[in-house]
Amino acid sequence: MFVMEMYPLVDLAELAEPSFYAAHGYPHDLWARLRRSDPLPWVERAHEPFWVVTRHADIVHIGRHPELFLNAPMVIIPERGRVGRNFEAPPTLIEMDPPEHRAQRRIIASRFKPGAFKRIHADVERIARGIVDSLLEEGEEGEVDFVERVAAPLPIAVIAWLLGVPEPDWPLLFNWTNRIVGGVDPEFKGDAEVSASKNAIIEMYRYFDDLIAEKRRNPADDLITHFTRAEVDGRKLDQMQVFAWCNLIVVAGNETTRNATTGGLLALVEHPEQLRRIQADLGLLAPGVEEIVRWTSPIIHFVRTAACDTELRGKQVRKGDRLCLFYPSANRDEEVFRNPFTFDVTRHPNNHLGFGVGEHFCAGSHIARFELKMAYRYLLPRIDEIELAGPVERLHSSFVGGIKRLPIRYRLKPAKGRRS
Ligand code: HEM
Repeated sequence: MFVMEMYPLVDLAELAEPSFYAAHGYPHDLWARLRRSDPLPWVERAHEPFWVVTRHADIVHIGRHPELFLNAPMVIIPERGRVGRNFEAPPTLIEMDPPEHRAQRRIIASRFKPGAFKRIHADVERIARGIVDSLLEEGEEGEVDFVERVAAPLPIAVIAWLLGVPEPDWPLLFNWTNRIVGGVDPEFKGDAEVSASKNAIIEMYRYFDDLIAEKRRNPADDLITHFTRAEVDGRKLDQMQVFAWCNLIVVAGNETTRNATTGGLLALVEHPEQLRRIQADLGLLAPGVEEIVRWTSPIIHFVRTAACDTELRGKQVRKGDRLCLFYPSANRDEEVFRNPFTFDVTRHPNNHLGFGVGEHFCAGSHIARFELKMAYRYLLPRIDEIELAGPVERLHSSFVGGIKRLPIRYRLKPAKGRRS
């Protein structure tokens, strides 16, 4: 783990550098030290200076004042190696501010609220179970990359299914989101002249352009059809706006859930007593999943831009200043969490900010929680022994705390009667 004392000359601008996270993981010791000594430092950086927001209370204040702290024009600090704004596609919901944001968010309210989502629980459970079963059916002992076998295919399958993407095309979505989120990771970047993320978004746009047209001709009970019918102020969304929605759902719902699933398993491998507690009482899956989202905090940061001069923690924030909200830091805040550095699947209360807070609170949180529960529900009870079988490989990203590979070695308990 990165320890500031070991790197006394660390430049805080590194907090926005993808390679930093690939090399060190999350700098929890550094954030803890900032929370104690200077919870809101200003970082001078050549192309994009920013405030480092480390405290839970400050992130809550910012999230609940969208009139003071805007999501437009940027939601992440540009990574070195990215070319300008990520793409020329229209802004997505996450890049909008009220009142436009509220009008647009209403579009998904009916499909994403918990009650509506319950309607499709059985389908999501079937998808999750199929993926976990394909691993379990391989035999009593094995060695696999958990990301490749479970954590990556599950969210892609669920999102593709929700949108109405035909199954043979699901691997395409997987490839595009890898390149969009990990656009500066050497593994996904390749030798592209323009950034890999930009190319991926163009390819994805071409694909969805055809699929959206097809859904207009042959409507179905899926999200793409829903977007083609949606209206804002009496006007239907145009093709680019429908694409912006597809793009957001694919990117927002995939890497995040993948990394929560992976990071959660890693936490359970590292804390076997917590794994045993869940195995003994599957009722702990619900608080366990909350703790996993707190512990892993898959989103490293989102940015806000000050709409006017304002004060925060006694400091003068100027109109146009960028504020970098470090959710993993807030989720270890000693002022909010008892023993924040303890992974505890029974933690209660657990007011983590892993899904954000306020105006832009994650629209897919119910879906993510359910996917996580289903992945673990069928996997954890079968585990007898589990350990790491190789190094954890991390993504080059200062936006999503990604794990690219989690090699595990396991032995299963004999299968009991299957629940149907
Ligand atoms: C563990 C998994 C997930 C995590 C940790 C996560 C995290 C977040 C966070 C922190 C935000 C707030 C953005 C901000 O403050 O500006 C957000 C927004 C959002 N998330 Fe998630 N998310 C997850 C899964 C999902 C899923 C599965 C979906 C959809 C299928 C989804 C869709 C969205 C959307 C549409 C927004 C934008 C909301 C808005 O701007 O009003 N997320 N998510």
